[in-house]
Formats: sequence, C-alpha cells, structure tokens
Amino acid sequence: MASAILRNTVRAASRATRSFRPAPIAFNNTRMFASVAPFVKGEPEAPSIKTSEIPGPVAVEKIKALDEIFDTRALNMLCDYEKSLGNYLTDADGNSYLDVYAQIASIPVGYNNPHLLEAVQSKQCLNYLINRPALGNFPPIDWESILRTSVLSVAPPGLNQVFTALAGSDANETAYKAAFMYRRRIERGEGAEFTEAEMQSSMLNEAPGCPQMSIMSFKKAFHGRLFGSLSTTRSKPIHKLDIPAFDWPHASFPNLKYPLSEHEAENRAEEDRCLQETEHLIKTFHNPVAALVVEPVQSEGGDNHATPYFFQGLRDITARNNVLFIVDEVQTGVGATGKFWAHEHWNLSSPPDMVTFSKKAQSAGYYYTNPLLRPNKPYRQFNTWMGDPSRVLLFKAIIEEIKSKNLVENTRQTGDYLFNGLRELAKKYPEQVKNLRGEGQGTFIAWDTVNRDSFLKEMKYAGVNIGGSGETAVRLRPMLIFQQKHADILLNALESTWKKRS
Ligand SMILES: Cc1ncc(COP(=O)(O)O)c(C=O)c1O
Repeated sequence: MASAILRNTVRAASRATRSFRPAPIAFNNTRMFASVAPFVKGEPEAPSIKTSEIPGPVAVEKIKALDEIFDTRALNMLCDYEKSLGNYLTDADGNSYLDVYAQIASIPVGYNNPHLLEAVQSKQCLNYLINRPALGNFPPIDWESILRTSVLSVAPPGLNQVFTALAGSDANETAYKAAFMYRRRIERGEGAEFTEAEMQSSMLNEAPGCPQMSIMSFKKAFHGRLFGSLSTTRSKPIHKLDIPAFDWPHASFPNLKYPLSEHEAENRAEEDRCLQETEHLIKTFHNPVAALVVEPVQSEGGDNHATPYFFQGLRDITARNNVLFIVDEVQTGVGATGKFWAHEHWNLSSPPDMVTFSKKAQSAGYYYTNPLLRPNKPYRQFNTWMGDPSRVLLFKAIIEEIKSKNLVENTRQTGDYLFNGLRELAKKYPEQVKNLRGEGQGTFIAWDTVNRDSFLKEMKYAGVNIGGSGETAVRLRPMLIFQQKHADILLNALESTWKKRS
C-alpha cells in the first residue's frame, strides 16, 4: 500500500532522531503522491523543518520583541501567513508544518486559497471593508441577496432566518438573549406591553424587568468567554476564575466508553442517566430554564462525543418542557464532521430552535425559524455592526469553494480513512492512543494520551501542527481540503513520534 511505503520512508528518515529534542525529519513523499493534486495548487509536498530548535532563532527574537507590548504567554507559533499555503503553515523561521489545528478549527479551505483571495478583491467586498455598515440601521442595498446567496444558502434543514454576529461567543450570547425575550413574550401574552414595574426595575438590574431565568448547559461545555456565554462554559476553571457568573444550571454530559461497539449497553445507560438529570434540572431548577445549549461534540472540554440517541432525547425533553434547544455549531459547523452541520447526523424529531455558527464560516451568527424569536420591538437585539458584510462575502466564497470541490464529502471520506489508520496504530501503541473517538464524524477525531502537552511539542519536530483539548485529548481539526495523502503524512508523523516515546 502506498501509505505503508511512505510511512517506512519517513520512519527510516527519523530513525536518527534524538529522543528528547528530535532533529528535523527529512520528508520525502514526492514519489508517492505526485499524481494526487492538492485542492490548493502549489501546496508543499510535505512538511519541512529547517531549524534544530522550535521556535527557531528568528522566532525567538521576534517573540521577545512582541512580548514587550503584547502578552505572548499563550503563543503557540509565530506565523508567516504570506508564506503559508493550503494545508501548510509556515513559521517565522521558514519551517513549514502540516496544519491539523487550523487556527483553532477556523480555517476552512486552506491558507491563501486563490478563490478566497479573488473574492476579497472584488469591488463589492472592498466596498464593505472600507465602508463598514452598521447593519441594523443602515444595511446595504444588496444585503438581502448577500445573505440569501451565502449564510442562508447553507442554512440547517428547517431553519430560514439569520441574525449575524461578530464571533462565536457573540453568536451564543445573542441567541441566549433571543431565548429570554421569547420566553417572556410567551409568558406575557402576545401584544402585551411592558409594565411600569418592569421598566423601572430593569434600570436597577432587578426583577421583574430583569427576571431570574437561566440557560442550561453541560459539564465540560465550552460556549465562549463573554459574560453570558462564559456562564454556560464549564470546561476549565482558568476560563472562569474571578468573573461574576449567572446562577444557571448544568447537567452531566455522557462519559462514553470506547470502543463504542464494545460498550453499547453501558453507554446507553450513561446517556439515559444524563437525559434524566437534564429533565430533572429543567423541571426543578430555581431559575426557570429558557433554553438549553449543547455542542454536537464538546470540543474545548476534551472532545467528548455522545450518540444521536442522546441528542434526540435532548430535543424531545426541551420540546415537552417548553425550553428552546440551541445547538452550538461554532466548532463543529461547516463540514468538519462530514456533514455541513454536525447535528444533521442526529435525525431529530424537529429542527433545533437555534443553531449558532462562527469559526470556519469566518463570520458568525445564529439561524432560527420561529418569527417570535425576533423580539417584539426593534433595538432589543442590536449592536453597532451586527456582523460584517465583507466577512459574510468571504463565507460566500468559502461555500462556493466547498461546493465546487465537494469538500464535505472529501472530509467524510478522508475522515474514514484517517480513523481506520489511527485504529490500526492504536493497536500498536495502546499507551499513546486511548479512547479513540470520532468514527463516522469526518476528520473530527480525537484520542487521549499521556503527557499530552509534550506530545504536541514533539509533533512539531515531526512537521505537524496539532492541537489538544481538555486535559488529556489530542484533537484533529484539519481543514476541509485535507486529503488521504495528508492523512498519510500525519499517520507517519504520529507513528515516528510514538515509536520514540515507547
Ligand atoms: C463550541 C464553541 N462555542 C463558542 C466558542 C466561542 O467562539 P469565539 O472564540 O469565536 O468567541 C467556541 C470557541 O472555541 C467554541 O468552540
């Protein structure tokens, strides 16, 4: 098999490497994949690591200078975006990495994708870059057609309206606000005016104007870092410490055992337990629950998956308790799971009430259908920009690229291939690959490993930029242009790194 030969080539090349600080690997896969065209023309054939230390000397100097004026403690890599192309990210020293992290899962169709470069140079896009509209007050004449041909052309089944926002956290926060205003509208009765008591108490941050309602989320969830979204985030203390939070409930998210096929009964019982807890909390929590928010795969919290059965249960529980069901597709959306929206894997009894998006869409917002989710009066869901038409036009170009190259299907197929490769490797390196998950979920694959953070660094020396999630997970978030040949390079790099570790 071509991939096996390639793996041997890289393995041989990496034999000479040291165990703690491996020397750069000589990559040579030109022979193997010359016939497979990358989706982005001119992309490197393989990673190339030139410096013996990472970060290299140029990066060290520049990071030092940058740190004088900008906090660099979370810095992962100082990047040269002009030199990056397709699946390959270049650092300040000219090292070129296969990027399976993709700016925290947010680059959809490759660095310097020519179709995107062309799209942003259109008169229309440049116009909105320099004349940025305040969309709520002064939308442009073509805003309707922009929305219809971009964001709404890929709306999740059953949803046909959009509120555009600025980032993932903003998309969630505005969805939460829509849920609260909807809830009070139903309670008040259609057409009822606000009372004097509501108006006056709202200025004191008190009920009844500012009622004690809640948004329910799950343990280990991540929905963002603004005040409202942070109250639904439960992934790590470091995200939340010192920030006042709302008194909102959270239920257990299923902790599944792997491989799934060997633990079906236990996993079903676990999902039932979480569903029961969810419904119990909805019925009893002291601050009435207006909406429940869930990620299709808990991403920042450690790549925790659940089965369609669990999500079907959530849809049904929320429907029978008059709680809105919000699916946060900020990280899972736009193709990465082998469907355009991850919740399309679930076969729900009715569509979610709202679906939030950002990251690979390069814009943000939430989809919905129910007209009552538009607040009863203008200016209740409002801010200066309310999104950005130039970013929405970029999303349009991304959608065109995805459709013309069939990239969601590419991701599904490549994901299956990659998962099989990983499953084989997991048998050889069981200490390094635990709880392999994401089968049938495109390239949205993860596993747990020992000394995870050091592993992520070791992978850089093997030419791969790879990310973690939660405390122990390694998460794969390649772009939609990731092909089998890239999967082979990744599998080789993983194997050479694991070999040195074992
Ligand atoms: C599922 C999910 N929701 C919301 C967010 C917040 O998005 P942003 O960082 O754009 O505010 C993230 C970010 O990682 C996310 O993964």
